[in-house]
Amino acid sequence: MIEQKLNKKQSNSDNTASYAEGVLKEHYLTDKERTAIDHEIAMVPHKSAAVIEALKIVQNNRRWISDESVNAIAAYLQMSPAEVDSVATFYNLIFRKPVGRHVILLCDSISCYVMKYGDIYTALQEKLRIRFGETTGDDCFTLLPNACLGCCDHAPALMIDNDLYKDVTVTCLDRILKKYT
Ligand code: FES
Repeated sequence: MIEQKLNKKQSNSDNTASYAEGVLKEHYLTDKERTAIDHEIAMVPHKSAAVIEALKIVQNNRRWISDESVNAIAAYLQMSPAEVDSVATFYNLIFRKPVGRHVILLCDSISCYVMKYGDIYTALQEKLRIRFGETTGDDCFTLLPNACLGCCDHAPALMIDNDLYKDVTVTCLDRILKKYT
């Protein structure tokens, strides 16, 4: 009987511990993220030099970088949250607001502007029913403007996730978008 009670007590305490662990994992870095960040730290002279890679690792898992993620990364890299936040907001490929499953970056710099990126933007607005900064209702796409994507001789250009599309035309948009739906 006593043993039963002890077992029950032990089980309650295990539940409390695993609940607390679950809550922590929800808000802070996972073991997988820590391992990946540790790998990056090992390749740089000091922890803070791994901040961009740490942001990318967490973003790859969670799509975007919340304030909780900023705080967790800061604590892990022994930096202040403000320092991590300034890096996160400086890099336009780090998202500080929720985004869809796929992010479309449409170049609006000079070469693409001259090569009628506006037509592509208009077509995307019509097809997806969103404007810059917005996400489709099914959470599939977020559309963002982006500075030069580095292929000005093939303007207009856009990027979806890590895929770069050059010489984009309105007619090829459906084919491109279909790959992600
Ligand atoms: S201006 Fe668009 S890729 Fe360079």
